[in-house]
Amino acid sequence: MSVICVIGTGYVGLVTGTCLADMGNTVTCIDIIQEKIDRLKQGILPIYEPGLEEMVERNVQAGRLNFSTSYSEGLADSEFIFIAVNTPTGNHQGSADMRYVESAARSIAEHLDHYAIVINKSTVPVGSGDVVSRVIRNNLKNENAGFAVVSNPEFLREGAAIRDCQNPDRIVLGSSEPEAAHKVAHLYLQLRAPFVITDLYTAEMIKYASNAFLATKISFINEIAQVCERLGADVKQVSVGMGYDKRIGHAFLDAGLGYGGSCFPKDVRALAYMADEAGLHPQMLHAVMDINHDQRRLIISKLNNLLGSLRNTTIGILGLAFKPNTDDMREAPAVDIIRWVISQGASVRVYDPVAKETGRAALERENINLEHVTFCSDAYGVADQADALVVVTEWNEFKSLNMQRIHDAMRRPVLVDGRNVYEPSEMDRYGFIYRGMGRATNPAPSILPSSDSSTEVSDELVQESLIASES
Ligand code: UGA
Repeated sequence: MSVICVIGTGYVGLVTGTCLADMGNTVTCIDIIQEKIDRLKQGILPIYEPGLEEMVERNVQAGRLNFSTSYSEGLADSEFIFIAVNTPTGNHQGSADMRYVESAARSIAEHLDHYAIVINKSTVPVGSGDVVSRVIRNNLKNENAGFAVVSNPEFLREGAAIRDCQNPDRIVLGSSEPEAAHKVAHLYLQLRAPFVITDLYTAEMIKYASNAFLATKISFINEIAQVCERLGADVKQVSVGMGYDKRIGHAFLDAGLGYGGSCFPKDVRALAYMADEAGLHPQMLHAVMDINHDQRRLIISKLNNLLGSLRNTTIGILGLAFKPNTDDMREAPAVDIIRWVISQGASVRVYDPVAKETGRAALERENINLEHVTFCSDAYGVADQADALVVVTEWNEFKSLNMQRIHDAMRRPVLVDGRNVYEPSEMDRYGFIYRGMGRATNPAPSILPSSDSSTEVSDELVQESLIASES
């Protein structure tokens, strides 16, 4: 088992450090923010991630996981040093801000007194491994210090981070020193995942290309959704039908409000910026970003079409977080949507099962006038006397609401389902004026099994559906 230091206790750092400790290693997670470390020592996590709190507690109690603000404490005896600090967007064109990575590299150099492998987990522009090497080399203080740099991009998703960390689809390692990459591979052997061992630049690029491809899938299905809506098709079933093709797959084909969060928007922008800087014109990446931006705006035009004007209306917002199972508000569609409806004269009632404090803080940060925002304690409170309800985040809780109660509480029963959570025909039956994303207003009844299986459709069911769709 190894001695490991992880720098940065954000999503990636905290989950990686905790999982490495759970695998039997001795891990010290360090962060420069004293308050964060103090709270972590008391078992208070800076993020909401299902299962993480228990895992942290278990490993702290077993003496395998420690927290500190001190580099000399964290680096002492460490064979592996992970850099997992954030790389936010640096300027409006999308370049990644390397400030935190460089400062971590400088601190490593100042405190290192033995040989260690420095592993970069943060998503960094192609070529950053060389920058980290240079910064460390130029700042080393101790003559016994030595190092190799390995890029090991992280592919975990918020909300499923522990599962992703323990069951990765692949482990990518890039280095100009293959021996160092192989040593890191040993750390992960028990995970039984395929390894891709390559050079630094390629490893860094694999991360960007993967995120950009997933974002492209989302923008693609969102564009198809708009075409579906115009032509009377149902994108939800189109995506099920497409997904059975193994070359396409079902994942990341849910049309809706588009992607948000701390990764896709930033990484697609950064990749486009790198390509632009290299003298290329990355047309597809720009289209992906444009479609994603327009997707949020569609909610406003749907509301305007249904309500006439938003002046003096009350709009209910179900969900604030950028996706379910997280309280993360970074680049969350809810913020834009709330800003736009308020600017058109509406007031909003909002509820999110988890993103309560983070939701309020995000709206404050964006200078949204909270006089126009009522924070409710559940979805029924949001519906109370609302002129329209917008589903922004597809929390499970919203899938099992008493929709009759929701309907009856509203002033006008307009339901704009930004995540296609509900079945249009069912919502019709409750009396809602329902609009999804890319779903015909009154679609023909489905003849597909609703589960994700390829169960054969019985003749009676086909017959029933045909009769229903003719009537
Ligand atoms: C994403 C990647 O999935 C991870 O592999 C990667 O490690 C991470 O970024 C990162 O670079 O650190 P994450 O941002 O947690 O992870 O979120 P996802 O679950 O991938 O969702 C991203 C966005 O896409 C969300 O806004 C979600 O609502 C949206 N989405 C996802 C759709 O609109 N449709 C889909 O079908 C799937």
